[in-house]
Amino acid sequence: MKIPSPRQLAKVNDELREAQAELVTTARRAGMAEIATNVLHNVGNVLNSVNVSAQVLFDKVQTSKGPGVAKVVQLLKEHPDDLGDFISSDPKGRALPDYLGKLADALATEQQAMIAELTQLSRRVDHIKDIVATQQSYAGYSSVLEPGLLRELVEDVVRISGVSLVRHKVTLVQELNDIPMMSLDKHKVLQILVNLINNAKQALVSVTDRPSHITLRLKAVDDTRVRIEVEDNGEGISAENLTRVFEHGFTTRPDGHGFGLHSCILAAHEMGGDLTVQSAGPGKGALFALELPITLVPGQSQKAATR
Ligand SMILES: Nc1ncnc2c1ncn2[C@@H]1O[C@H](COP(=O)(O)OP(=O)(O)O)[C@@H](O)[C@H]1O
Ligand SMILES: [Mg+2]
Repeated sequence: MKIPSPRQLAKVNDELREAQAELVTTARRAGMAEIATNVLHNVGNVLNSVNVSAQVLFDKVQTSKGPGVAKVVQLLKEHPDDLGDFISSDPKGRALPDYLGKLADALATEQQAMIAELTQLSRRVDHIKDIVATQQSYAGYSSVLEPGLLRELVEDVVRISGVSLVRHKVTLVQELNDIPMMSLDKHKVLQILVNLINNAKQALVSVTDRPSHITLRLKAVDDTRVRIEVEDNGEGISAENLTRVFEHGFTTRPDGHGFGLHSCILAAHEMGGDLTVQSAGPGKGALFALELPITLVPGQSQKAATR
């Protein structure tokens, strides 16, 4: 075999580096795609209820008693010269005050129902705005460190994942401690947590013999490290797969890609942190833990930092 020249080696090396960079980009895109899918899914769910509200309102307007007023006006117009007599003597006229009273009641009830429905509708539209705004505050964001509160970020994750958790009948337990303001790559942390929650949700799909739980924990390990745990009581992971779940392309799901956890662990390492997994085995649930260094914001007083 011919020994490659240093130049050839350098070229191969360059190519490998390029390929690796491409893989990292692909993995990161897969992670972001997962977030986008989640947002669309959540918006889609809320849009369904918006549609229902719109239909209810449409039906109410269509069956409204409102046109009854026009009938009364028509009746009164038919008696321009003997309105008094009509109301006091004619059976139709004498029924009018009673009819008007009932009409007023019916219209008031209708109005109440429509206000209630419109309130729901506008609440749902606000909800959509929230979901989109939360997503936008993270979009197009590449490795920027900014001061932030991890607890707020975790709460954003809950908002992004919340609606679909309710739909999947998963109880989300939150045990969140306050962590001092720290330097954060919010986009990376969000991407990791959304991925972990999605995986947990998928691991709970096959569980039918017990209530499904996902527990989110946020706590300081010591003064220098913080730990975020996503635990589920789902299908669990076998000992042999425990070492493989972070591999690029490793998946046990028919529609899986195996990019999610790989992109998560890359992002964790880029932040100087780590992502680990524990599971007592198949059927025993899984616990993913993201540990990050607590990098206090430079120039910030300790008082503000521990706020
Ligand atoms: N919470 C979990 N419980 C059980 N298995 C999990 C969990 N999260 C991940 N896994 C396993 O790790 C594999 C890789 O996950 P991931 O990288 O997100 O890719 P994908 O979701 O496309 O399969 C999954 O197919 C599954 O076997
Ligand atoms: Mg996944």
